[in-house]
Formats: sequence, structure tokens, C-alpha cells
Amino acid sequence: MSVRVLFALAALAALPAAPAAPALPPTLAETHGPRGIAYAPRYPLWSDGMQKRRWIELPAGSAIDKLKPDAWQFPVGTRAWKEFRRDGRPVETRFIERLADGSWRFLTYRWNEEGTQATLAPEEGVPESGIPSRTDCLACHEGAAVPILGYSAVQLETELAPALGYLHGNCGHCHNDGALPALELTLAQSAADPRAGAERMRASLLGRASRFRPREATSAPRRVVPGDPDASLLVARMQSRDALTRMPPLGVSVPDPNGIAMVRRWIEQLKFHPKE
Ligand code: HEC
Ligand code: HEC
Repeated sequence: MSVRVLFALAALAALPAAPAAPALPPTLAETHGPRGIAYAPRYPLWSDGMQKRRWIELPAGSAIDKLKPDAWQFPVGTRAWKEFRRDGRPVETRFIERLADGSWRFLTYRWNEEGTQATLAPEEGVPESGIPSRTDCLACHEGAAVPILGYSAVQLETELAPALGYLHGNCGHCHNDGALPALELTLAQSAADPRAGAERMRASLLGRASRFRPREATSAPRRVVPGDPDASLLVARMQSRDALTRMPPLGVSVPDPNGIAMVRRWIEQLKFHPKE
């Protein structure tokens, strides 16, 4: 072996190995650490009607830096879990952890039929069981200012109109000022200034032409036509059963009847503002 190769190998060996995926306790609810906090976001993500429970744990002696209400900074070592249940049985538990270098890792565990044991799911996910790939995790979690989406000032402390909260929780991680900027579609809300957040959302929706062309459309679609949910592309995409049209594009295959009803009611009561 050449000296150069030996050198390269030595350098590689010096890199800290990625920590092994932690084993998941069989009954997380009972055994999660004493610092684990169970929480529920006010504006949860719809996941085809599955029941969910969530926990977050910070390392002893650490705290969240809440200086910026819309971008809480979580300490290294923060861990969060989300468990999905169907008919009372756990089917999947997702896990996020902030590593020593400040980056985040995303893992997900799949439960056996009996709901007694969970094993790490492969990186490409298990499409036939609806278990997302690592790339899907990133598509939703790294689009927002901070990858922890359900434990935030908006989700825990901010009173929003139901439709706005719904759009924040189900769409805002992709449709915000940072991710997908070319679309100019802001559905994320703000805890620092809820009024300004709502205004940015209205400006990006009301009467705005859309670039998206539904297959069956005859005229140029508008994102939201105030007073007319049936003419609003936003609603059409939430209601669609076509995988290329449906929003969100990931994690949902059954449209959410309650979410759609909230958004329809909100559009019905909008008064047209001539400036928009
Ligand atoms: C379609 C978007 C989407 C995908 C895909 C997705 N998540 Fe999430 N996830 C969310 C949203 C939104 C929340 C917060 C709202 C809630 O929990 O209802 C969340 C919450 C979580 C939580 C609880 C901590 C937090 O951020 O509030 C964990 C843990 C988690 N997700 C892990 C994962 C992992 C791991 C993957 C991939 C295997 C994944 N998620 C895929 C959108 C997504
Ligand atoms: C995982 C990221 C992601 C999530 C979550 C998501 N979207 Fe999208 N959305 C996209 C992408 C990417 C596009 C652009 C491509 C396209 O139009 O299909 C888009 C496009 C759109 C458009 C068309 C924009 C235009 O006028 O050109 C609308 C309307 C829309 N989304 C609404 C929503 C709604 C409502 C939700 C939540 C119920 C949502 N989206 C959730 C990624 C996302």
C-alpha cells in the first residue's frame, strides 16, 4: 500500500463514526426518559387518519433558545419521537435527533404485526406500508426554518383561525419564504407577528394566477377565488385523489375531510379586496 493510501485510511479512521441507530424501547410511552415531554401540536399534520403521539427530550441542563419566536434553536442532543397507531396498535415510530456537529438525523422504525417490537426501516422507506424514505423526511422537515415542526411557538402558543392553522401545520413546512421561493406561495404562519403572517398568506393566494395546470381545466386557474372554493385551485389540490395533483404531495393518500371543510369555509367568507 502506498504511503498516500495509508494516509487517507488513517484520516478516515480519525473521523468520528456516525452513531449507531438507537434501539427503540418496545413501549416508548412507558419507558421514554424522565426528561421526555409528551406534547401535541395545535395544528397537527393529517396522516390518513392515523392516531399519533409525540415526545421531545432535551439533554439534562440544556434549554431551547427561544429568542426568535419563528426559529427556536434546539440544543445538540435534542431527540423527538412520533408514534403512529392504527386501530390502537403502533405501526411506525419516527425519530429525529440533533447530532454533535449540529446536523439532524432522521430515522424511522416499523413495528411488527403484534405491535410488540420495532425495527429500523430501510433508508428508502417501505412504500407499500406508507413508510417514508429519508429523502421524504428531509423534503418536509428541512424546508422549514427549524426541522422540529410540531414543537414551536406557532404550534404550541399561537391562536390562529382554524384554516390558517391547518395550512400552517400541513403545508407551511414546504410553502414558506425560504423553501420553494420561486412559487411565491406562503402558507406558513408567524408567531412573532401573526397578522403579518396572515397578510403574506392572503397576498400569495387571493386572486393570484397559478402556474399549475390541472388536466381538466379550461381557463387559467386562480389559487384562491374569494367566496368561491370550487373555483380555487388550493381546494382542488387538497381534494384531489390524483398523485400528481394532490397536496401535500407526500405522506397523504386519503384527502382530509375536516381540513378541506375548514379551508372551504374560510374561502367562502373572504370578501374580495379590490387591491388584490
Ligand atoms: C409530508 C411531510 C412530512 C414527512 C414526509 C415527514 N414528516 Fe415528520 N412531521 C411533519 C410535520 C408537519 C410534523 C409536525 C406536526 C405533527 O406532528 O402533526 C412532523 C413531526 C415529526 C416528529 C415529531 C417532532 C416534530 O418535528 O414535531 C418526528 C420525530 C418526525 N416528524 C420524524 C419524521 C421522520 C423520521 C420522517 C421520515 C421517515 C418524517 N418525519 C417524514 C411532516 C412530515
Ligand atoms: C413536501 C412539500 C410540500 C407540501 C407539504 C405541500 N406542497 Fe404544495 N407544492 C409543492 C411543490 C414542490 C409544488 C410545485 C409543483 C407543483 O405544482 O406540483 C407545490 C405547488 C402547490 C400549489 C400550486 C402553486 C402554483 O400556483 O403554482 C398549490 C396551490 C399548493 N402547492 C398547495 C398546497 C397545500 C394547500 C398544501 C397543504 C395542504 C401543500 N401544498 C403542501 C410542495 C409541497
